[in-house]
Amino acid sequence: MCGIVGYVGTRKATDVCVAGLKRLEYRGYDSAGIAVVEDGKLEVVKVVGKLRNLSEALEETPLEGTLGIGHTRWATHGKPSKINSHPHVSNDGRIALVHNGIIENYAELRDELKQEGFEFVSETDTEVIVHLVARYYEGDLAAAFRRAARDLEGAFAVGIVSADHPGQMVAARRFSPLVVGIGAGENFIASDMGAVREWTDQVYVIEDDEMAVITRDGIELTDFEGKPVHHEPYTIPWPAEAAQKGGHKHFMHKEIHEQPRAMRECLLGRLTDAEKSITLEGLNMTEEEIKRLRKVVFTACGTAFHAGLVGRFLMEKLARIPAECDLAAELRARDPVVLEDTLAIVVSQSGETADTLVALRELKEKGASVVSVVNVVDSSIARESDGVVYIQAGPEIGVASTKAYTLQILTIALIAAHFADVRGAASEHELIELRRAMLSLPEQAQTLLDREDEVKAVAARYYDSHNSLYLGRGVNLPSAMEGALKLKEISYVHAEGYSAGEMKHGPIALVERSLFTVAIAVKGDVYDKMIGNIQEIKARSGPVIGVAFDGDTEIPRQADDVLWVPPCPELLTPITVAIPLQILAYHIADMLGREIDQPRNLAKTVTVE
Ligand code: M6R
Repeated sequence: MCGIVGYVGTRKATDVCVAGLKRLEYRGYDSAGIAVVEDGKLEVVKVVGKLRNLSEALEETPLEGTLGIGHTRWATHGKPSKINSHPHVSNDGRIALVHNGIIENYAELRDELKQEGFEFVSETDTEVIVHLVARYYEGDLAAAFRRAARDLEGAFAVGIVSADHPGQMVAARRFSPLVVGIGAGENFIASDMGAVREWTDQVYVIEDDEMAVITRDGIELTDFEGKPVHHEPYTIPWPAEAAQKGGHKHFMHKEIHEQPRAMRECLLGRLTDAEKSITLEGLNMTEEEIKRLRKVVFTACGTAFHAGLVGRFLMEKLARIPAECDLAAELRARDPVVLEDTLAIVVSQSGETADTLVALRELKEKGASVVSVVNVVDSSIARESDGVVYIQAGPEIGVASTKAYTLQILTIALIAAHFADVRGAASEHELIELRRAMLSLPEQAQTLLDREDEVKAVAARYYDSHNSLYLGRGVNLPSAMEGALKLKEISYVHAEGYSAGEMKHGPIALVERSLFTVAIAVKGDVYDKMIGNIQEIKARSGPVIGVAFDGDTEIPRQADDVLWVPPCPELLTPITVAIPLQILAYHIADMLGREIDQPRNLAKTVTVE
């Protein structure tokens, strides 16, 4: 996830682009760059790190042009560095391009273009686009891009300028977000409307396979065949101050809502067709190594640990490999025995959590090979691993981890399904069904978000409780633990995540009218037992919020309230179940007036043991 902006008008393009990029910094801050057309030439400034470095660089090298494009990067292909920063420029220095998205067939395209003599300077997937545009350029920038788009597979939102066209910008989209801001005598492009809100509240929301040719006085919208398309201008309903959070009250809320898109990006290039095998670039394991595995050990902290617990389940159920999951902070204390052919899967959003890094080193030293499931590219954990499968969630700013959690599970599910395939541990039919269900997850996540008001109404009935229990079994025991962690860390309401089967061994003594229980009772192996547990709580006057599949008729009879989730295979339910529980925690915390994005005593990244 990166941020792009562009400007054509009468102001200094750098002023507008830098201000727009500041509103997009939540989308990435590994590096930033800008290209401006000035006196018939392209001037490019790039820096590593945050936008303030770009502002400083522009103070030293001021650019006066009134046409420009800018980018703030969240690294996916190639580490954060100046050379990998956007804008990328054609070999003749006449065309510059910024990109948000992932080009899936970049490796083939790069080989092809290299053979034709194009020189590549970066490790990015993006650079192929600018060389493709240059390959097809015969004086018409839009026509060149249209032709290039035919060769591209994957996701992109791009902004393109050329020194030959000092008053024109081309922008296009497939799967990655793009808006065109409509001004008077000036126009804008951006990854989201928050970036242009300072100057206009009118935008065109560009759809897939559409593009725009933009000058200071005109915006021409077409499809990739060049046929005109029509959009009514959309009026941004919120004030400029709300821009950075894209109109959301908190980053956590925004990140919860980013899950459908983030899931799509996580699947891109890895799972595109249920009938086809999963490919995981970065895993770095041969089929022989996968077949030889005797054990998988997950380790992580906090929310990532809960994803690891789900992973343990997936690895055993799907790939039939014995699996464990250890809290990273505890792993070293028990001096674990590491068998030959053990794979450690280290899970971390930040890739910098000290406990997790220490556990990784311990397991490596004892002979395990290490694959990490990480969000931040080139982080310490990613660098020290033998293989890394990035979750591709984009920056997560809210201290409470939300989209990273569901994407960690999705990524681990991809790994487990891949292992099952390679080891012949599941039938072709089972794998196809599972892959089909994974491909439906983004849509199911959207359905769950569309039901936010129903969850909010439940939150309003329970927000003044001081105690809560979250119960689950099997693959959803970690969901109960994660639901409870979400609630306690942002609302400060006491919440305990517990095995429903363990209740009768002690915790049931806590149940009374003022303690509410969230019981995860989606259909599957443990459904009947969960109904029994709900009845035990109701018999002791405890209010129950059930989490059930759409259409279930039993849970509404047993529970006081129900959070509904669309049906999917039981193994994937931790992904869908997580979303209403995130929303519930969010609204309870909001009703209590908590500091949701920065709860007391917590830091986003814990770099001390
Ligand atoms: O960056 P990491 O995933 O390694 O962080 C691990 C935990 O610190 C993190 O998940 C923490 O528990 C979150 N605050 C949970 O929302």
